[in-house]
Amino acid sequence: MTSTAQPLLSVREVTMAFPGRRRGTAPVRAVDGISFDVAPGETLGLVGESGCGKSTTGRMIVRLLEPTTGSITYDGRDISHLSQRELKPLRRELQMVFQDPHSSLNPRQTVARIIADPLLVQGSSAADARKRAAELMDLVGLIPEHIDRYPHEFSGGQAQRIGIARSLATNPRLVVADEPVSALDVSVQAQIVNLMEQLQQELGLAYLFIAHDLSVVKRVCDRVAVMYLGRIVEIGDRERVYTSPAHPYTRALLSAVPLPDPAAERARERITLLGDPPSPAAPPPGCTFHPRCPKARAVCRTEAPLLRIAAAGERREVACHFPEAA
Ligand SMILES: Nc1ncnc2c1ncn2[C@@H]1O[C@H](COP(=O)(O)OP(=O)(O)OP(=O)(O)O)[C@@H](O)[C@H]1O
Ligand code: SF4
Ligand SMILES: [Mg+2]
Repeated sequence: MTSTAQPLLSVREVTMAFPGRRRGTAPVRAVDGISFDVAPGETLGLVGESGCGKSTTGRMIVRLLEPTTGSITYDGRDISHLSQRELKPLRRELQMVFQDPHSSLNPRQTVARIIADPLLVQGSSAADARKRAAELMDLVGLIPEHIDRYPHEFSGGQAQRIGIARSLATNPRLVVADEPVSALDVSVQAQIVNLMEQLQQELGLAYLFIAHDLSVVKRVCDRVAVMYLGRIVEIGDRERVYTSPAHPYTRALLSAVPLPDPAAERARERITLLGDPPSPAAPPPGCTFHPRCPKARAVCRTEAPLLRIAAAGERREVACHFPEAA
């Protein structure tokens, strides 16, 4: 879906095919032709069950992975197949925050070194990088005097603050946050989400915010994309998607989110999906959601639905032969 502002990031028909696990087996299409934009300063939520291709998408955007086909354009430049050398100056602008803060931080490095590392790579002096690391600790709500401590001396939430500080060291414009709160206690999740929101407002960052649960991104995202088996099945403005989901899969994901209002919670429709998602190595024909879809009809087993505007004038697209009426 095209945003009104000039996009910072444009993803067009991107696929990622990993080689099959055994020789002679078909490649795994972890991402299968996805397209979306992210505007400057915007948050796009990317949601879906485990294995649907969210991390692979995030890793392609920051070019830790090279897409098999399709294009990724950042700030007007096609970065899909740039070499590591060509990518180096762009690494300042495109950063990533990972799911498990402790395993994504080197246990043998001090916080000073961890946060300063992206700056040292970009050629900053050790003294400048250390000064900036202390400023960043303060920015993310850590005590700068703890700069010479090691990751294990911090709680999960504090460690994720270190991960966020590291991602901000080079003043990026786009941060891919890959399930940044999934590994944290529920009580700490909101604090980290608040911090990320506050940093976005202060620094004008754009986020691709990945989560497996629609409730996590509800507060932070401007738009949301729902992925199933490597494809986007619904994408649109937050309000539209949350208040009137058009795809049966989005409806099922939303029906799993508890509501704060007790009356609404009692009346909540609960849709239980049968079975697990199929393997991307052997996707079902037609609509890949059909084996689990409560609305599937004959055509769904043979014809893949295209992602298209659900109703005239809507800023929301859906890939379903029988979308829920808006
Ligand atoms: N390097 C790889 N080689 C082969 N297959 C891979 C590789 N990385 C991921 N996959 C497969 O690609 C698919 C998508 O994986 P991905 O990690 O992107 O999903 P995800 O949506 O991030 O899941 P999760 O919620 O568990 O993090 C999965 O079937 C996974 O097994
Ligand atoms: S196309 Fe058919 S199977 Fe697929 S989501 Fe829509 S109704 Fe369900
Ligand atoms: Mg993942």
